[in-house]
Amino acid sequence: METRYSLEQFLADTRATIRAKGVPSGLAEIRAHLERLLHNPELLTKHLGDPVPYVERATIGHDPESDVHVLVHGRARAGKSSVHDHGPCWVIYGNYRNPTRMRRWRRVDDGGTPAHAELELQKEFLNEPGQAAVFAVGDIHSIEFGDDTFFIRVTGGDVETKETLRFDVARQTVEIANRARGER
Ligand SMILES: [Fe+2]
Repeated sequence: METRYSLEQFLADTRATIRAKGVPSGLAEIRAHLERLLHNPELLTKHLGDPVPYVERATIGHDPESDVHVLVHGRARAGKSSVHDHGPCWVIYGNYRNPTRMRRWRRVDDGGTPAHAELELQKEFLNEPGQAAVFAVGDIHSIEFGDDTFFIRVTGGDVETKETLRFDVARQTVEIANRARGER
């Protein structure tokens, strides 16, 4: 088992993939790079400290050329997200400790009615430690996790400064969330 694939190697390999294949063609290859990184047992102690602290959101890497960001989310307590997209960004979610329940949603209305959206569940699965899941630009998802869950997000662009869409499936509504103002 390979154990020492570093954050720097990940960023260099991801940059090379984007140069060679572009996006979205290269996303599957970047996912594979991330899964290698998830198998590095020293990743979080090296970049966040030992013992590894719970962090709402910590950026541990950024490549200026590709504008790829690597963020860690370490949650002490169980939680879940809204149903959302990532605005103009692609995102790859990789679990490091404990799984995340992932739900992919498909929009089935035509977007013609303001603030209205109809979604149906497309796929539900557990993203286990060591596994990563790709969300291309425009993909819609939600996450749910238990106590003591650490996951890594790799984003193309800084999604936390962007406007994204947030959906309420039951009420069939959609609204813009300005992440720079803490909405998500
Ligand atoms: Fe997301």
